[in-house]
Amino acid sequence: MVLRPGHILSAAVATLAAATAVSAAACCSGAKLPLPVKTVYQFDTETWIENLAVRPNGNLLLVVDENVTSPEHPVSLYQLANPASTQPELSLVYAFPLGTVLGITELQPEVYAVLAENFTGSFEAVPGTSKMFTFNFNDMDGGQPAMKEVATLPNTISGPDGIAALPGHPDTVLVADMYASLVWAVDITMGTTTVFAQTPEMAEVHNATKMGINGLRVSDSYLYFTNSDLKSVFRLPLDACGSGVGPAAEMVANLTAVSPVFIDDFTIGRDGTLWVTSSGPQNVVVAVRPDGKGGFLEPVVAAGAIDSTAVQGDVGAAFGRGPLDRDVLYVVTNGGLWGAGLGLNQTATEPGKVAAVDTRCF
Ligand SMILES: *[C@@H]1O[C@H](CO)[C@@H](O)[C@H](O)[C@H]1NC(C)=O
Ligand SMILES: *[C@@H]1O[C@H](CO)[C@@H](O)[C@H](O)[C@H]1NC(C)=O
Ligand SMILES: *[C@@H]1O[C@H](CO)[C@@H](O)[C@H](O)[C@H]1NC(C)=O
Ligand SMILES: *[C@@H]1O[C@H](CO)[C@@H](O)[C@H](O)[C@H]1NC(C)=O
Ligand SMILES: *[C@@H]1O[C@H](CO)[C@@H](O)[C@H](O)[C@H]1NC(C)=O
Repeated sequence: MVLRPGHILSAAVATLAAATAVSAAACCSGAKLPLPVKTVYQFDTETWIENLAVRPNGNLLLVVDENVTSPEHPVSLYQLANPASTQPELSLVYAFPLGTVLGITELQPEVYAVLAENFTGSFEAVPGTSKMFTFNFNDMDGGQPAMKEVATLPNTISGPDGIAALPGHPDTVLVADMYASLVWAVDITMGTTTVFAQTPEMAEVHNATKMGINGLRVSDSYLYFTNSDLKSVFRLPLDACGSGVGPAAEMVANLTAVSPVFIDDFTIGRDGTLWVTSSGPQNVVVAVRPDGKGGFLEPVVAAGAIDSTAVQGDVGAAFGRGPLDRDVLYVVTNGGLWGAGLGLNQTATEPGKVAAVDTRCF
């Protein structure tokens, strides 16, 4: 089926989607792990949902690689409306003229940046194809947000992956480059790209996955990032203007014991907990609580398991923003395709999905 912008597809698996919404007043005594997980929406073909952003109205924006193993390989931005209801509705926002979509981030209220490009077979960017787009939901036309192609990234971009907004600098999009082992800053007004940060902790060292820095978030005057190869989360202090970084990165969590092969993207909860996705083959979401003294406690597996499909192939996560789902961690998946590619313990794959992890009792 080919979807056109504006076409509404009612949730194909609404039957799977038992209500995610739950009464606000949950009474919990300590975390019982793993946390409960529900499928909110699942595609019906081999689909890789690489990342998501959550609109102020609670709707999810999903960046999706469709039919990833077939030559017909469209990549698109979708909206999943009312994710906390029993009838989430999927609609196409934009189909990109490129082969892969990577990151999405909200630059200012209702303005989102999306990075897309063509990849070689080994996840490397085809020179000249990495492009930044913006979608402005304050400026609707024909039911769709105004779309602009704002920058073509230089050929030195090697393995772009996670992207992040820089608070106070709505014209800047930070881009993690897992092969060049650094963070770029893309100025969406000028269309220019410069190096924002580069430290040894951004590099891969084991020559196994070849992927170093991956996920990126700015929180509390720090730039946090994951290193997939090191299975660790690091942070760099932002400078006083919030437009540069201090020289030394600090490791805040080492997830090797709970996810020994790979870690992917992450998000940060309201209480400062880091929620890290493992992708396949581990198929878990790992939580790292703050220790109340500026540091972090030991990582724990919060959802999923190596032999579970609950969050199989989890590659991105974000918290709900609607009244009913503030404590719901939405996790997007590639259905285990990446783990299958590694030949690691992934016997079956499934279409990508949006799963809801209920974190109220964590
Ligand atoms: C994905 O592939 C299926 C067949 O395998 C096809 O029916 C469908 O139209 C494709 N989807 C897109 C968005 O191209
Ligand atoms: C990028 O991919 C798109 C869609 O897959 C294709 O049409 C286009 O020719 C590709 N461009 C380059 C420069 O590889
Ligand atoms: C890394 O692995 C590749 C093969 O996957 C090999 O060609 C290359 O020489 C290796 N590099 C180092 C520094 O070991
Ligand atoms: C993380 O811990 C493992 C042991 O579980 C250790 O081998 C590794 O060096 C540590 N990684 C970092 C980046 O310190
Ligand atoms: C694969 O799964 C089996 C059974 O769940 C487990 O014993 C084994 O350690 C796993 N292997 C890897 C590489 O994770």
